[in-house]
Amino acid sequence: MLGSLLDTVMDRTIAPGYTSIGYRVRHRVAGWDDALPRLEGRTVLVTGVTSGIGRAAAERFAQLGARVLLVARDAGRGARARAELVAATGNEDLHVELCDLSSLASVRALAGRLEGTPLHVVVHNAGLLPAERRVTEDGIEVAFATNVLGPFLLTALTEQTLRASAPARVIWVSSGGMYSQRVATSDLQAEGLADDWDGTVVYARTKRAQVILAELWAERLAGSGVVVHAMHPGWVATPGVKDSLPRFEKVVRPLLRTPYEGADTIVWLGAADEPARSSGGFWHDRRARPTHLLPSTRETDEQRRALWDACVELSGAPV
Ligand SMILES: NC(=O)c1ccc[n+]([C@@H]2O[C@H](COP(=O)([O-])OP(=O)(O)OC[C@H]3O[C@@H](n4cnc5c(N)ncnc54)[C@H](OP(=O)(O)O)[C@@H]3O)[C@@H](O)[C@H]2O)c1
Repeated sequence: MLGSLLDTVMDRTIAPGYTSIGYRVRHRVAGWDDALPRLEGRTVLVTGVTSGIGRAAAERFAQLGARVLLVARDAGRGARARAELVAATGNEDLHVELCDLSSLASVRALAGRLEGTPLHVVVHNAGLLPAERRVTEDGIEVAFATNVLGPFLLTALTEQTLRASAPARVIWVSSGGMYSQRVATSDLQAEGLADDWDGTVVYARTKRAQVILAELWAERLAGSGVVVHAMHPGWVATPGVKDSLPRFEKVVRPLLRTPYEGADTIVWLGAADEPARSSGGFWHDRRARPTHLLPSTRETDEQRRALWDACVELSGAPV
């Protein structure tokens, strides 16, 4: 009871809960079982494995004995990550899959190569916070393309494989920043912010969209044995944070989580028994969390549907 109250207070007051302190207090007070179920015979796909949270998650999945598909957009960085992960874990069943998540053609090519491969866990981790408005080769704003549209298309193109591989899990790595924003269905590609760019707002909107899409995929896959969850890792010391939020990183540096601490709930969602018993949750530090802290961020059913329809239309997903 005390543990639960402390956990909730840390969560709602943001700073204590999102830092390494929050992770360590919860780990100790809740008495987390560090020994997660083994994953031999399971195939886990993780995007964004070349640094930060994705790399740490891939390492933990490899330690649990999974076959891990390491999705990276650069062959050299992917090969280096694989070599380091094999050396760290002794698991040689790790395979680099090249894909630029911001490119619809690249996502389609990856899905094509995956046909016939069972998929038990898919982790949509790759992401970015854009310093300026850029569009991809498909003409899509790059944060929306990478954080939302690419993962949406990959989920759609692997849906039948996931169903056939069930029990299976899809995990969207969102951000606590999403609490600050409502989904921007009338401006998903941030054209309205082009002249007054705020990357953190654009990023947070994509992270809000991820949480809604996880819920909608969970509804679509209900009863299939494929569960879908979103999570946020807290504030984690990664190259991404250092590059895109240098001032924030400097102030909170001593309190930032390690990538392993940030990845913990991803691996728990992918391996533990409890997350398989529900779907459509939003998690942080192994506990379901609210998806809204402010009434102003709540979206309507029409906006949820509009987000889904826009993703289908822009990606050409077969759903
Ligand atoms: N760190 C935090 O405090 C924090 C907080 C909340 C949420 N998150 C979320 O956690 C996830 C991981 O972030 P991180 O902090 O670990 O960042 P990071 O160190 O910058 O890692 C991002 C990863 O995504 C990959 N990536 C980026 N764009 C890609 C693309 N178009 N195609 C394929 N891969 C791409 C990067 O690959 P390259 O090596 O090729 O660039 C890298 O492997 C992100 O979704 C982020 O929003 C992080």
